[in-house]
Amino acid sequence: MPMPLSIHPTDTPTSAAERQTILDKGGFGTAFTDHMVTIEWTEGQGWHNAQVRKREPFRIDPAAAVLHYAQEVFEGMKAYRGEGGAITLFRPDQNAKRFNASAQRMAMPTLPEDVFVEAVQALVRTDRDWIPGGNGSLYLRPFMFADEPFLGVRPAHHFTFCVIASPVGDYFKSGPKPVKVWVSREYTRAAEGGTGAAKCGGNYAASLVAQAQAYENGCEQVVFLDAAEHQWIEELGGMNIFFVKDDGNLLTTPLGTILPGITRASLIELARSKGLTVEERKYSFDEWRADVASGKVKEVFACGTAAVVASIGEVKFEGGSFQIGQGESGPVTNALREELTALQRGKIADTRGWVRVVS
Ligand code: PLP
Ligand code: COI
Repeated sequence: MPMPLSIHPTDTPTSAAERQTILDKGGFGTAFTDHMVTIEWTEGQGWHNAQVRKREPFRIDPAAAVLHYAQEVFEGMKAYRGEGGAITLFRPDQNAKRFNASAQRMAMPTLPEDVFVEAVQALVRTDRDWIPGGNGSLYLRPFMFADEPFLGVRPAHHFTFCVIASPVGDYFKSGPKPVKVWVSREYTRAAEGGTGAAKCGGNYAASLVAQAQAYENGCEQVVFLDAAEHQWIEELGGMNIFFVKDDGNLLTTPLGTILPGITRASLIELARSKGLTVEERKYSFDEWRADVASGKVKEVFACGTAAVVASIGEVKFEGGSFQIGQGESGPVTNALREELTALQRGKIADTRGWVRVVS
């Protein structure tokens, strides 16, 4: 790594017994490891002061730009404890690339891809004992925010890049059971020219009122439609979406205003290598309903790093609902989930150079 990364282990590590209790709890995003990585960026100086250090609260000025104008981007990735105990990351170069694309959209500095990947690996190495076994994984959250104290509206002159880690199990409380989704016809997530393709905190803030309505309606996730016509399916609050047709082939919504999911791209490639076709095209909510009613669409699933591949069993909206399948995850969904997770955990050979072993 061209930038020296100094390592300062915590003086107060979590005991092995306490860590095990935390790991046994599972769930998503509530527990955190002992360390974090921080790297600073200053206008005129660039990136500096790269450290792995004790995880602790930041001290930021109340005028820090992120608190006012939300100049922030993040990534989501996982470290797995695979076959034979090897620790792996899945396509971390893709997260590094997307991080920089998000940063550019938000007028923030980019981080050299090798520095991004090494920062993530350094945290994984330091906190390797926090990677759960079984179906669990260590969720990694690289992020960057504007911490210059300045209330004028312009790109900030000081940023902090940070990586934290959280041992996780299933994203959804229902576990592998199909989830229910709420189609919002009131709120949209992204418009042409907006920030939909960037992984910036503001997109998630703007999604929360619709997500709250999903919860009120007994659903786990919200499905967003396009901003211009309110009819084209885009994606979920935190996942992309795929439709499985009666011939087993797939359809997914096109890139543009959605987050270009790394799971989405990987599943498209895996499906095509199995001989399936994958259409990436605009698909309307009306067409979805009609295709489920006629049996043309047999399975629907959500996908993303946190949720992996999650079957969708029921769709609700203002004034109605419809079921998909028989309350079980379907065969195409299951086959794709199995192949992806086997690859990520080193159970099958990686012929594409997607799996990075953390040494
Ligand atoms: N769409 C949104 C809005 C997300 O937050 C995520 C999760 O990161 C995804 C899609 C899936 O992206 P990936 O597969 O890269 O995790
Ligand atoms: C992810 O899958 O990594 C996400 O970021 C989704 C959600 C937890 C925000």
